[in-house]
Amino acid sequence: MARIDGKTAIVTGSGNGIGRAMALAFAAAGANVIVSDVLVEDGERTAAAITEAGGSAFFVAADVADAQQAENLVAATVKRFGSIDILANNAGIGGGKVRLHEVEPEDFDRVINVNLRGTFLCSKYAIPYFLAQQDGRIVNTASTYGLIGAPNAAAYCASKGAIINLTRQMAVDYGPDGIRVNAICPGYIDTGLGRRGPELTPDEFQAASAIREKAAGMQPLGRQGQPSEIGEVAVFLSSDAASFMTGSIVPVDGGCITTFNYGEASN
Ligand SMILES: NC(=O)c1ccc[n+]([C@@H]2O[C@H](COP(=O)([O-])OP(=O)(O)OC[C@H]3O[C@@H](n4cnc5c(N)ncnc54)[C@H](O)[C@@H]3O)[C@@H](O)[C@H]2O)c1
Repeated sequence: MARIDGKTAIVTGSGNGIGRAMALAFAAAGANVIVSDVLVEDGERTAAAITEAGGSAFFVAADVADAQQAENLVAATVKRFGSIDILANNAGIGGGKVRLHEVEPEDFDRVINVNLRGTFLCSKYAIPYFLAQQDGRIVNTASTYGLIGAPNAAAYCASKGAIINLTRQMAVDYGPDGIRVNAICPGYIDTGLGRRGPELTPDEFQAASAIREKAAGMQPLGRQGQPSEIGEVAVFLSSDAASFMTGSIVPVDGGCITTFNYGEASN
């Protein structure tokens, strides 16, 4: 695995799922990690797991969609560890599983605010530190749903597509300053995304899980990915091993967007 010894990394949404795996992977690769999430207990649990394993971590509660909290998150990081080197914009939420004409305007806004505005805000407050040191690495968690259309996911697909082109745009603006910006597009990863939370009844949760299992089974690698399989790519992109990569959009998806899904059909 690549190393990021002595670097300081923020991982948003690291109380659970992919963010938690990124935080664990960053720490295992030698970084000081600021674990951040809106869910305090979950975030503290991730930070404790890192320190119990001998790593360096600190939890800061922050809602990435809130400008003041995003600014505080970056300031708290610098106060605690003296610098910030890596920002993993990972916090994200799914949308309601309905077609666009049935999406409530406030639900659309909520998805855009967390996924897109959160990425913008945390980057906005971290970049001045990156500019001062002429070095910085940003890894955005986009999605394969940002590369293709997907059923019943208007706000989510729009937010992830926007993160992908924001990644390219930021790479253009900040490449001359030694700041690299890349995005990972996870495919089906076995976390609670879109299945956690009060909006799904137990029956809906079961149905969503079954659909994901079936969809993942039809992809080239035939399974859902594990969060750790995203964490390792995030470490690589943040490390000097990826020193000539910026503006790259990296699917980590078991091959799901490489081919039309033929299902049972063959010629
Ligand atoms: N799981 C997948 O299959 C999959 C696929 C593609 C992309 N992604 C993306 O990966 C990222 C992580 O997803 P996951 O599957 O680990 O989800 P998850 O629900 O398991 O974890 C997401 C975490 O983000 C936190 N969070 C939510 N809103 C927040 C906010 N406003 N501010 C700070 N933290 C907030 C949650 O509390 C949670 O701990 C998301 O951006 C998601 O869109 C996931």
